[in-house]
Amino acid sequence: MSKHIDRLRDDHKEFGLNALNDAFEKDPIKAFQAWFDEACSSEQPEPNAFALSTINKASNQPSSRIVYLKELTKGSLVFYTNYESDKAKDIQNSPNVGALFFWPGLQRQIRIQGFASKITAQESDAYFQSRPRSSQIGAWASDQSRHLSSRKELEDKLEALNKKFSGDVERPPFWGGYGILPNRFEFWQGRPSRLHDRIVFDKVNGVWESYRINP
Ligand SMILES: Cc1cc2nc3c(=O)[nH]c(=O)nc-3n(C[C@H](O)[C@H](O)[C@H](O)COP(=O)(O)O)c2cc1C
Repeated sequence: MSKHIDRLRDDHKEFGLNALNDAFEKDPIKAFQAWFDEACSSEQPEPNAFALSTINKASNQPSSRIVYLKELTKGSLVFYTNYESDKAKDIQNSPNVGALFFWPGLQRQIRIQGFASKITAQESDAYFQSRPRSSQIGAWASDQSRHLSSRKELEDKLEALNKKFSGDVERPPFWGGYGILPNRFEFWQGRPSRLHDRIVFDKVNGVWESYRINP
């Protein structure tokens, strides 16, 4: 690690003109879509990767990992995963989750809080069928988050599954999507001298309320 990590500093000059203004969308879903589209068109690396935070209810321990946003439907952010993974167990017991997008090239982050629930089996089937065969077999092969004795164990399993599925691969019952229905957004735009823009949207009685907070 750099010895001078304390001196790493980016004064966020470049994007001052892109700052949030009072005309910022009143609908945070639309605002999210607008920033997400900009992140994609300005070729940010992995623009759809976000940190998903869940809580293990028994230990009261939060944990985060990166997943991919695959759809934004009916105001819900959809990602796909193993339904028996650690994150899935966390969600089952405590469906309140955090989602964090960071696009360094645009000096932007979006913090989201919401409620995660499984999407329908039909929706998961449709997405699974759109995936490359190797990813489909990979979903069958991985007991995500469980102990693995060696890399070879996984590779042997993959080989056996490749033989088993000669034609179409059906979706494993333990794999599918979750939709996160947001109840809070915070849009953060880096500005000079640490005087960044922060705009929060809270859903109160079904209606979005927005306000600025200090950087
Ligand atoms: C760029 C990137 C994208 C990822 N996308 C996914 C994803 O969409 N779904 C998923 O289950 N894991 C994804 N992972 C792996 C997760 O970060 C994590 O290792 C895995 O889901 C197991 O997490 P868990 O044990 O907390 O359940 C991704 C990792 C990276 C670095």
